Amino acid sequence: MTNILVTGSKGQLGSEFKNIALLKPNINFYFKDKELDITKKSQLDNYFFKNDIDFIINTAAYTDVNNAEIEKEKADLVNEIGTKNIVELSEKYNCKLIHYSTDYVYDGKNKIPITENNPVNPLNHYGISKRNGEIFIEKSSCESVIIRTSWLYSTYGNNFVKTILEKIYRREKIFVVNDQFGCPTNAKDLAFDTLKIIDSGIKLDNHGKIYNYSNLGYTNWSNFAKKIIEFLNIEYEVHEVSSRFFKSPAVRPQYTITDKSKIKNTFNLKILNWEESLKTYLCNLKK
Ligand SMILES: NC(=O)c1ccc[n+]([C@@H]2O[C@H](COP(=O)([O-])OP(=O)(O)OC[C@H]3O[C@@H](n4cnc5c(N)ncnc54)[C@H](OP(=O)(O)O)[C@@H]3O)[C@@H](O)[C@H]2O)c1
Repeated sequence: MTNILVTGSKGQLGSEFKNIALLKPNINFYFKDKELDITKKSQLDNYFFKNDIDFIINTAAYTDVNNAEIEKEKADLVNEIGTKNIVELSEKYNCKLIHYSTDYVYDGKNKIPITENNPVNPLNHYGISKRNGEIFIEKSSCESVIIRTSWLYSTYGNNFVKTILEKIYRREKIFVVNDQFGCPTNAKDLAFDTLKIIDSGIKLDNHGKIYNYSNLGYTNWSNFAKKIIEFLNIEYEVHEVSSRFFKSPAVRPQYTITDKSKIKNTFNLKILNWEESLKTYLCNLKK
């Protein structure tokens, strides 16, 4: 049996692992959210001492991009110090580690797909705090990888798809930006593919520590909203606006279309196209 600890388990991605756990009788999952606070090293140490953990899947994070501009210390504490703690305990207890980061570590100034070799240059504090966390993994001696994902959605937590569905339900006008391009990710696909990576038995960091991951293809936010409406088979207007329309505290990159060749080739993953995955997600909601 493999013992896997999933941190941040009440979040979008963490919750998807809970659903999959039922299909994986060969794995003992330990699900922990804030009751196992990644910012409290001695609490973590005590937990690892008592439990024989083989793998850590670290989904715990501070993910409120706008509030991170205001609560910088809080974002740093979770995304930087929390990650440092997880890395140090992975080394101490010889655990393998899968950690998630974001496309917001890139500045998105080029219109060509971003590979893992592209330089990082986060434009907002969330991106800075996530990048600072990544550095501990890059330097770590434990078998570990960073999966940079983007535009995550699921039936859990707060995300773009749920926001659009709620606006439709309340008959509110929908304004969405059309000048930010990126790659949506169904959290369920990411959770499944993470477990495929573990199941493959391939050494996680054989090809370096960083992998991009999202569903395949790309879009912008307004087209994403339009696709939701199209797949729901309803009529609803989407008002396209530029980023200047919303006075949000955080600056967001314009083009974070990531190249997924590395993760696909290394772990032999067949990643779904974003439209196909969105369609399935919406079909399942109707059931
Ligand atoms: N959401 C996206 O669009 C997106 C995009 C790119 C990358 N990512 C990355 O993907 C990963 C998963 O994201 P997600 O959307 O699943 O995040 P999420 O829904 O915000 O889940 C994160 C979970 O971690 C918990 N948490 C916060 N601080 C903690 C702490 N100190 N100790 C333990 N747990 C703590 C959160 O609790 P509270 O909710 O109570 O704070 C929440 O349950 C993160 O690394 C994120 O940075 C996300």
